[in-house]
Amino acid sequence: MNQEELFKKIISHAKEYGFIFPSSEVYDGLAAVYDYGQLGSLLKNNIREYWWKSMVQLHENIVGIDSAIFMHPSIWKASGHVDAFNDPLIDNKDSKKRYRADVLIEEHLAKIEDKINKEVEKAAKRFGETFDSAMFISTNPRVVEYKNKLESIKTRFAKALNENNLADVKTIIEEEGIACPVSGTRNWTDVRQFNLMFSTQMGSVTDDAGTIFLRPETAQGIFVNFLNVYKTGRMKIPFGIAQTGKAFRNEIVARQFIFRMREFEQMEMQFFVKPGEEMKWFEYWKATRKKWHLSLGIPESKYRFHDHEKLAHYANAATDIEFEFPFGFKELEGIHSRTDFDLNQHQKFSGKKLQYFDSETNESYVPYVVETSIGLDRTFLAILSYAYSEEKLEDGSERMVLRIPPVLSPIKVAVLPLVKRDGMPEKAHEIMDVLKLDFMCQYDEKDTVGRRYRRQDAIGTPYCITIDQQTFEDNTVTIRERDSMKQERIPVSQISNLVLEKLHIKNLLSHN
Ligand code: GAP
Repeated sequence: MNQEELFKKIISHAKEYGFIFPSSEVYDGLAAVYDYGQLGSLLKNNIREYWWKSMVQLHENIVGIDSAIFMHPSIWKASGHVDAFNDPLIDNKDSKKRYRADVLIEEHLAKIEDKINKEVEKAAKRFGETFDSAMFISTNPRVVEYKNKLESIKTRFAKALNENNLADVKTIIEEEGIACPVSGTRNWTDVRQFNLMFSTQMGSVTDDAGTIFLRPETAQGIFVNFLNVYKTGRMKIPFGIAQTGKAFRNEIVARQFIFRMREFEQMEMQFFVKPGEEMKWFEYWKATRKKWHLSLGIPESKYRFHDHEKLAHYANAATDIEFEFPFGFKELEGIHSRTDFDLNQHQKFSGKKLQYFDSETNESYVPYVVETSIGLDRTFLAILSYAYSEEKLEDGSERMVLRIPPVLSPIKVAVLPLVKRDGMPEKAHEIMDVLKLDFMCQYDEKDTVGRRYRRQDAIGTPYCITIDQQTFEDNTVTIRERDSMKQERIPVSQISNLVLEKLHIKNLLSHN
């Protein structure tokens, strides 16, 4: 199965089992908006809870807030979003399709990179064990030519973006012969900027004064509460403020399922530090966030750091944690050193001082900020795409299993009476009534027990317990573990402790 097929399977699996539905489906859907179903919302809540606890509960100097989505419109002027939260867009005159010009160029660059990788793979096969890939890459004429081309486009592209030179962005597209994937032609309009913020009207005022924006990031809600939290929480620098919540962006190219949506959820943390110490904290948060991802049990090879080539004007360092989705390595989380830009801007626009008083030096200053910003939906997709696996079993049969990190699984225990009679359903409910006080359980009595195991595998349930005739004799049940499929008999009185011990969130938190 190739990656494209895999991705299609993940999307249909997510729908079939109640993880994710297209929004407004009975009205044929709404582009790039999705709803989380009965299992998806549980998984999403569990991911959010894990992030929140790892930030707020594990760090004495980080507190959490929940700011409103609607904010004073001047905030978006101050933050630069009104003037510069733009994507360069371009239309193909024949297909009438609209694209992000930067994405067209990035995809073109990825194709050149693919060509290099193919040459290296071919040579590795040809030369066998003696193959020296570094030597090959630096000397093979064809690879060197591709590499030079790649570098020169990258440099020119970064310069054009930095200087907001949209004419040159178009020239790159033309000179590289980039064609519209739909019409196949190179008949392009000029490149122009498009602001990604959604706006609406507040109250009964319908002129510009009543226009407010749906927040495109949760971070600004943190910046404008800096003083409130610092004063009321008696915070000492360095300290952080975390929050999770919805953000909205009118994405031009919204594709790849829940990877890029118009309404999505962010989990952000702004860490306020003394100016001059930001690089130390930037490195600290890079390492800390990497550990968080690895604690999920997903192999390290699925992640990589990608330092920004084009730094935003306010940042002095920025990196992305990329994840290998079925459509390649893509940004999952951003870690940015944002200097004192945001607080300074809000001081300027609000006329209020947003400063920290250092009682040791008797000095006031505007703190610098290191931010960690991760998409909840993208984390969901990363976990789902890693978890999806089709396995061949020893007896030749196949099973589909979602290897979701067990602590995050939507349903922790499935309670299954072996048959639908002989008092087993009643006994199963009796046991479930106790277990459900501790965790999410699901009762299932339909079909053979084997088929029920498969259904639970397909939604990632770590444990199934089966009630049978012996349960009435010695008060034991069979417990089956998802990944190993091993079964053992345990007393009913031990189920809760066993499951709690294995699936307590502290099993993840302790790896932070
Ligand atoms: N405050 C910084 C900030 O918002 P960003 O890189 O624009 O930075 C942070 O966004 C994270 O939010 C991304 O790494 C991604 O995981 C998520 N994200 C951004 N746009 C998204 C979209 N349209 N759909 C889903 N997730 C998105």
